Amino acid sequence: MIAKIQGLLEEVEKLQAATKEEAEALRIKYLGKKGIVNDLMADFRNVPAEMKKEVGMKLNELKNKAQEKINALKDAADAKDNVADDIDLTRTPYPIALGTRHPITIVKNEIVDIFSRLSFTLAEGPEIEDDWHVYSSMNFADDHPARDMQDTFFVEAHPDIVLRSHTSSVQARVMERQQPPIRVICPGRVYRNEAISARAHCFFHQVEGLYVDRNVSFTDLKQVLLLFAQEMFGKETKIRLRPSYFPFTEPSAEMDISCDICGGKGCSFCKHTGWVEILGCGMVDPAVLDANGIDSKVYTGYAFGMGIERITNLKYKVKDLRMFSENDTRFLEEFKSAN
Ligand code: PHE
Repeated sequence: MIAKIQGLLEEVEKLQAATKEEAEALRIKYLGKKGIVNDLMADFRNVPAEMKKEVGMKLNELKNKAQEKINALKDAADAKDNVADDIDLTRTPYPIALGTRHPITIVKNEIVDIFSRLSFTLAEGPEIEDDWHVYSSMNFADDHPARDMQDTFFVEAHPDIVLRSHTSSVQARVMERQQPPIRVICPGRVYRNEAISARAHCFFHQVEGLYVDRNVSFTDLKQVLLLFAQEMFGKETKIRLRPSYFPFTEPSAEMDISCDICGGKGCSFCKHTGWVEILGCGMVDPAVLDANGIDSKVYTGYAFGMGIERITNLKYKVKDLRMFSENDTRFLEEFKSAN
């Protein structure tokens, strides 16, 4: 009998009840009039006299343990019910905290928006590209340094496949499937094999524009870029174009805007020149038009390209490029109102 009571003690210890009803059922099973403990009490009469003391004590222990355990189960079930009672279903819910758009997305949208008002349509292309669309169709000579491993990420075992290093590849894709008039804006991520620092990253974002039609001239390009600069940085903004070189444009230029911190007077931000560089541009080289199936005797075009990080830095004075890819919410939340 001792062994039986010991078994029951262990059983009681493990009892579980999810609701008050289940706990009550356990009370009836163990402690009710016809319950297990009472049955044992009835058997107690037959226990030999010399064992009575020991068995009696064990039996009492079982009764107390069962009572304690079942009460505890009832209390726990009660507490659970009370929690449910405390919920006020008529209360207005907490507002869900919305995330913010990434500053790069905010600025990209703004750039795209300005150019769509000038009838540019959006074009996108793959980030993993072939050499033709990134370099050859863009008039890069076979030994051009940009094709070097130091600048370009190659897909191992496929030397012809690269991570695009500029979004000019999208221009090539548009020209090969569409005849002029072409007026597209191509935003996207690009990759360059650079050591990561406050001023350089192995990936960043660009927006490039392309306009090809009959009689497109450098004046058209200049006018569009002036309008863009003033929409983006304010009506007072001035632009200046400096001669430059790109394989895919001829003539080529780099564009500066008047420094909006000092208003062009010269400060540490513009290195006391009064100007900050924002983009590259030029007239599409006839060789690029021909390589992409567009007759350069009939059509001319202009193209321009800018880094979105650069424009974002100018607008929001972000000092370290790495902030854009670290996803620190303290940084991102600063752009809440710019959404
Ligand atoms: N593709 C150039 C770059 O990545 C930018 C550019 C585009 C320059 C179009 C001129 C014309 O630097």
